[in-house]
Amino acid sequence: MPQPNSPLPRHRRRLAIALLAAIAFAGSAHSAHSGHATVAVPLHPSLWPQPAWPLPITPAIEHRIDALMATMTLEEKVGQTIQADIDSIKPEDLRTYRLGSILAGGGSDPGGKYNAPPKAWLALADAFWEASMDTSQGGKAIPVIWGIDAVHGQSNIIGATLFPHNIGLGATRDADLIRQIGRITAVETRTTGMEWTFAPTVAVPQDDRWGRSYEGYSEAPKVVALLAPAMVEGLQGKAGAPDFLDDHHVMTSVKHFLGDGGTTNGKDQGNTEVSEAVLRNVHAAGYVPAIAAGAQSVMASYNSFHGEKMHANKTLLTDILKGRMQFGGLIVGDWNGHGQIPGCSNTDCAQTFNAGLDMAMAPDSWKGLYTSTLAHVKAGDIPMARLDDAVRRILRVKFRMGLFEKPKPSQRALGGKFELLGSAEHRAVARRAVRESLVLLKNNHGLLPLNPHARILLAGDGADNLAKQTGGWTLTWQGNGTTRADFPNADSIWDGFRQQVAAAGGEAELAVDGNYTHKPDVAVVVFGEDPYAEFQGDLPNLMFKAGKSGDLALIRRLKADGIPVVAIFLSGRPLWLNREINAADAFVAAWLPGSEGAGIADVLLRGKDGAPQYDFHGRLSFSWPRRADQYANNIGQKHYSPLFPFGYGLRYVDHAPLAMLSEDPGLDPMAARSNVWFDRGVSATGLTLRLVGANGVANDVIHPVAASADGSVAMSAINTDIQEGARLFAFHGEGAVELHANTPLDLVRETNGDVFVVARLRVDALPLDSKVLFSAGCGDGCSGTIALGSTLATLPRGEWTRLGIQLRCLRVAGADTSKLRQPFALHASDGVQLAISKVSASTEFDHKVDCPTR
Ligand code: BGC
Ligand code: BGC
Repeated sequence: MPQPNSPLPRHRRRLAIALLAAIAFAGSAHSAHSGHATVAVPLHPSLWPQPAWPLPITPAIEHRIDALMATMTLEEKVGQTIQADIDSIKPEDLRTYRLGSILAGGGSDPGGKYNAPPKAWLALADAFWEASMDTSQGGKAIPVIWGIDAVHGQSNIIGATLFPHNIGLGATRDADLIRQIGRITAVETRTTGMEWTFAPTVAVPQDDRWGRSYEGYSEAPKVVALLAPAMVEGLQGKAGAPDFLDDHHVMTSVKHFLGDGGTTNGKDQGNTEVSEAVLRNVHAAGYVPAIAAGAQSVMASYNSFHGEKMHANKTLLTDILKGRMQFGGLIVGDWNGHGQIPGCSNTDCAQTFNAGLDMAMAPDSWKGLYTSTLAHVKAGDIPMARLDDAVRRILRVKFRMGLFEKPKPSQRALGGKFELLGSAEHRAVARRAVRESLVLLKNNHGLLPLNPHARILLAGDGADNLAKQTGGWTLTWQGNGTTRADFPNADSIWDGFRQQVAAAGGEAELAVDGNYTHKPDVAVVVFGEDPYAEFQGDLPNLMFKAGKSGDLALIRRLKADGIPVVAIFLSGRPLWLNREINAADAFVAAWLPGSEGAGIADVLLRGKDGAPQYDFHGRLSFSWPRRADQYANNIGQKHYSPLFPFGYGLRYVDHAPLAMLSEDPGLDPMAARSNVWFDRGVSATGLTLRLVGANGVANDVIHPVAASADGSVAMSAINTDIQEGARLFAFHGEGAVELHANTPLDLVRETNGDVFVVARLRVDALPLDSKVLFSAGCGDGCSGTIALGSTLATLPRGEWTRLGIQLRCLRVAGADTSKLRQPFALHASDGVQLAISKVSASTEFDHKVDCPTR
């Protein structure tokens, strides 16, 4: 460190201030936590709807709860309120820690295998259940309940029927179909031993940049209100009926309460800054009928309401949901959602229970949260009455489901009946759902329906691609990393065409790149978004793949060959792609159809008699944008002017051709933002690369060869696998390399989601006593600095590697990740030589830097 009496060079001064600030900040990470200023917005419970909860208190059950609770220790009561993830808890642990529930998160699987066989899931369910019922160490036998994201079918399990994601179901408007889908999902879920699904999502997405748009049925509250109760009834059975919550059903978790679809700029886990009326009339629309249908649980949301995290919002959780809205089930938290409350951590949070949460989802933090919660109850920070209420709600659900009387999961009615996973009956319903969900946006010259005797080319990277067709929350969290073999009970879109065209005596050819062997009469080009889940799907604007996919060129090439083109677009939301729509003769929005890609050929191909087999049925449940910056463009709003309005969807009788559309995306390029900040030696739009000399003077880099004004940092272009794919930084004195963001980056979601700043780099020279510091910040007093020297020393010289620095660590070190001006800066001393090819916010890296332990 510089001598205290020597005048500090400017950038060193900044660094020193940042370090001091980091220390001062560590204790009061208050605003850095959510990054949103809290504005108290008064809420009026009496204005909220009062759905009738259909399950009156049953004295017989209440007596059993009373009797059980009278014998439970405090430890057992607290245990019921904690839910752990199977990646972080072993069945044996339940013998000591009597937790109420376990879950399998999107990335958690038996033995760490995303494609574990169904019997491995069921065996694990048995093992957890047995441990929870084991009284040999003196504990009470209280059956553990297992929750899983069966969000479009039992979608974590290989071979399950995979239904269209909710956006596609919204286009069907078919409540009866959705009820059947719920019933089937429950049946398939029971075969592998789980009793609880974290579904349905009843978000009412208002900004299609949100990565979870596809989990919502519609931007319109009335469609969500129509379908949500049908799904609840399908999953749980009808409240009051004899088969309600029996062995053929599962309990639901209506999510995420409240306002998840209304965050500013469509940021996942962001801040919902709407009026009380909008919160109630738009975002709560699905909860009202779901409660009336007897939904057994509601999941609290990650988002804030005017800066206050929902997991801490007592007015909404307790006064409105449980009080005014008469919700009689339990409130479960989201994945470490409690840890985002200012003053809380993943392992310590009395506030959330006091706000009304009954069960905290503490995947990897369960042990710490259990211990601290126990201490909070003993200290009176959580009133005993509150704990008792939470435990009572949890036990009530377990009694209602008859779990105390049931044998272990494999011995229940459907346990181990794996032939039901992807059974013919179930797949037929899913295929019907695909047919009903397709929305026809363009059909010029009546190109559709196609003649199956024709020569048909299937092209595009979605034509024979189950991962793309099924989307996120499929076998893996993000829906990526799978192979065709992981989908034994599924048809790709190509499979459907291949089978039906062959049966009709036509000729079908698959050529993903469009290079056909026989010139076809017509081409079907299937393309779209790659799978994603949650914040990883957030977009900076609505332009499809930022206009950079090869799909447009493929369509144009086929057209240039004189071949009519049908475009099938796979996506989790409407996106701006007017050029592709213009280039194709017909255009179908197929959403994320799931395992039954053959449903598409059912609608697009004529039958034997030449008549359509099925007409189009789907209608947009989300308005289609006219421009790529038309983010919040929803039915009923002022200045509503979509390209295709809510409810749009052609039928085969419709003959009016679609005129050419404007190909101007209407985007301000400076507003574009992605999580790649520097690539192939060039900073991304909106970011500037700077070299800072020992004197603190910063120079913006324009040319591939540059230096700081004082010559202490020299930059040159070097080759990687591509020419000039990286920059080499040679330090001839103290200096720094910085990426400066023209508008501050809000990385709160990424910080909470365990994302890293990842630099692909190569250490060329690192003299023995050299210093390398990484920092990120937003000016004086809000920077986080982490020493990299010891990590870099372990990296092999001269080899490319990806180094990850967790954003959370930077927050701990004092950076306010809600407004990073400088997301990346490396300060180094004389003699250091580093090459960098890419800097991004990502979860993929080879080495990670240890977090400072402050
Ligand atoms: C998601 C929830 C999901 C949970 C468990 C969270 O990150 O927000 O929708 O149910 O994880 O996987
Ligand atoms: C889990 C998801 C969870 C996410 C939260 C993942 O590892 O599998 O279920 O939603 O983490 O960030």
